[in-house]
Amino acid sequence: MKIAFVGKGGSGKTTLSSLFVRHLAAHGTPVVAVDADINQHLGAALGLDDEEAAALPAMGAHLPLIKDYLRGSNPRITSAESMIKTTPPGGGSRLLRLQEDNPVYDACARTVALDGVDIRLLATGPFTESDLGVACYHSKTGAVELFLNHLVDGREEYVVVDMTAGSDSFASGMFTRFDMTFLVAEPTRKGVSVYRQYKEYARDFGVPLKVVGNKVQNEDDLDFLRQEAGEDLLVTVGHSDWVRAMEKGRPRPFAQLEEVDARALATLHEAADAVYEKRDWERYTRQMVHFHLRNAESWGNARTGVDLAAQVDPSFVLSEAHGTSVPEPARATAPQPA
Ligand SMILES: Nc1ncnc2c1ncn2[C@@H]1O[C@H](COP(=O)(O)OP(=O)(O)OP(=O)(O)O)[C@@H](O)[C@H]1O
Ligand SMILES: [Mg+2]
Repeated sequence: MKIAFVGKGGSGKTTLSSLFVRHLAAHGTPVVAVDADINQHLGAALGLDDEEAAALPAMGAHLPLIKDYLRGSNPRITSAESMIKTTPPGGGSRLLRLQEDNPVYDACARTVALDGVDIRLLATGPFTESDLGVACYHSKTGAVELFLNHLVDGREEYVVVDMTAGSDSFASGMFTRFDMTFLVAEPTRKGVSVYRQYKEYARDFGVPLKVVGNKVQNEDDLDFLRQEAGEDLLVTVGHSDWVRAMEKGRPRPFAQLEEVDARALATLHEAADAVYEKRDWERYTRQMVHFHLRNAESWGNARTGVDLAAQVDPSFVLSEAHGTSVPEPARATAPQPA
């Protein structure tokens, strides 16, 4: 299950992503955490010290390796250079599983122990000024988009992405890559304005979106969020002393998280799990092709000098079936009747 945490700067995306990752790990649910936010803080929120966080490998720096591995023997993708962030998988492409060893994890993932449970952490790497303009080709989140578009994940195994609610994810289609998007909103006008903008984009693409209220202090806060987000408001979280202790560098065991927050995390887990039955791999594949063609036309073809529409394999549908080792149908080698 692919889960995004988005929202305005400072709303609590990193805090809630890290708590959800810890919740999953504590329940024995396999999880890969991905830091795709402009401010790279997920490592720290998962307990890494400054030195460890600074030493995290950057996915953005390993794009050639990632592309070469994923394109595999796909005849429609003739080089890593002609592969852009939206290039969809097709016949011959290599797909990724959540729980496996592969060269992408080898190069980009670090193991983080959360109360004795090991999880994998991936990070895009810090954003620079030039990443935030029109430099789609070099966009830092491109590596994450390729990762998600080649991932065949099943129920009860999670990718949790700490992400910005930004124009880059709307242009590339990144915002359509998730089974569930949790929009973290403080009870403020700015907090809910990001929600409205996101909802508008999400509506046209059938993106499941739920609002998680954060830093909710009283009835008036709750009332405000209810009024602004209506049915989309899933749950709210108040001030957490557990989080504050973590911020002070005095981390406590996860089991000591406030009961009310632990329940909120269980609610997120249930909401995410509930969309499993509505998964539609055909639509998922169709949408990645849609955004690829759009990116090809608007900048990709010009940038690579290749007709990127030719990378689309019309008969390919990404699906969980790729994750199981169904034997190839036997080739017709038997002698044909005369
Ligand atoms: N429920 C909470 N209880 C206590 N402190 C919180 C809570 N949620 C967030 N915070 C604190 O608020 C600050 C901002 O939170 P966080 O870093 O998670 O936000 P963010 O949306 O990831 O921000 P950025 O946009 O900078 O990445 C942090 O210091 C965090 O510890
Ligand atoms: Mg953050």
